[in-house]
Amino acid sequence: MEEKKKILYSGIQPSGSFTIGNYFGAIKNWVNLQDDYDCYFCVVDLHALTVPQVPKDLRKNSFESFITLLAAGIDPEKSTLYFQSHVSAHAELAWLLNCYSYMGELGRMTQFKDKSKKQGENIRVGLYSYPVLMAADILLYQSDLVPVGEDQKQHLELTRDIASRFNNLYSPTFKIPEPYIGKKGARIMSLQEPEKKMSKSDENINAFVTLQDPRDVIIKKFKRAITDSDTQVRFDRKEKPGVSNLMEIYSCATGKDFKDIEKEFEGKGYGDFKTAVGEAVADTLAPIQKRFAELKEDKAYIKEIVENSTAKTNRAANRTLGKVKRKVGLFEV
Ligand code: TRP
Repeated sequence: MEEKKKILYSGIQPSGSFTIGNYFGAIKNWVNLQDDYDCYFCVVDLHALTVPQVPKDLRKNSFESFITLLAAGIDPEKSTLYFQSHVSAHAELAWLLNCYSYMGELGRMTQFKDKSKKQGENIRVGLYSYPVLMAADILLYQSDLVPVGEDQKQHLELTRDIASRFNNLYSPTFKIPEPYIGKKGARIMSLQEPEKKMSKSDENINAFVTLQDPRDVIIKKFKRAITDSDTQVRFDRKEKPGVSNLMEIYSCATGKDFKDIEKEFEGKGYGDFKTAVGEAVADTLAPIQKRFAELKEDKAYIKEIVENSTAKTNRAANRTLGKVKRKVGLFEV
């Protein structure tokens, strides 16, 4: 008998073009998980609204994020890829869970503390309640596993607390999700300040490479990457953070390990090394960019995927939501 696959759930913010940090750190791993798990991947457009957005940009970025995931290898025949806002159960369950979440625990979230500083006097309630919506995302599908980076661990812990609290108060309703600890995703750092994580919101555009960057731009950005005053290509995060980051990227793009990379560039300068990294990344991204361009024009195909996944996710999510509504005592006819 075929064993039922575990449910693996993840969400990604629709920032439009992802960086190679998102790709090598998360998306590429998702692609590899598709055969072993029943995967749900959600473009979390409602979460995006917790910070100011320009409507037409949000719309465009959401669409482009969706097709980037497809172009990168998320296969709609295997996985369920959908938009959060297309399944109203997310917002409904988030409200209900808000009524079982404590101000103290939300106020302790480090991401909230960081992001709220940028909102000045008027901090949005949505930003504060962000992790409750994330809990709703995960719990609606009775997810077993959530692949989380360091920055989302606290939110997953909170999800588990809220779910256990609800289960204890009523009766078992939610599966308590576990963090998925797989092969560790690469942690790609800024090309300009290798102590900092690579981020698309960096003011310096040479600090990051997006999946949309053309080949010549990619190569130029790697040529400008910060290294050190040494000449040796050697992995040492502490002493040589810039070179180590480039080695990590090169390893992700080529599958070579650090020992092989050190050997390959023995006696060669940083110039050759940086060119090789740039070319390897451009080669990795070329097929994704080609597929992206095709998908962008194929509106009918995208519509079909969205319709299928939206129908499936609404069915699954409404099952859980219905249970919750009954348990808390909402009247039904
Ligand atoms: N908060 C996550 C992030 O910023 C995105 C996210 C939303 C998510 N809902 C989720 C991740 C559910 C995992 C599971 O990266």
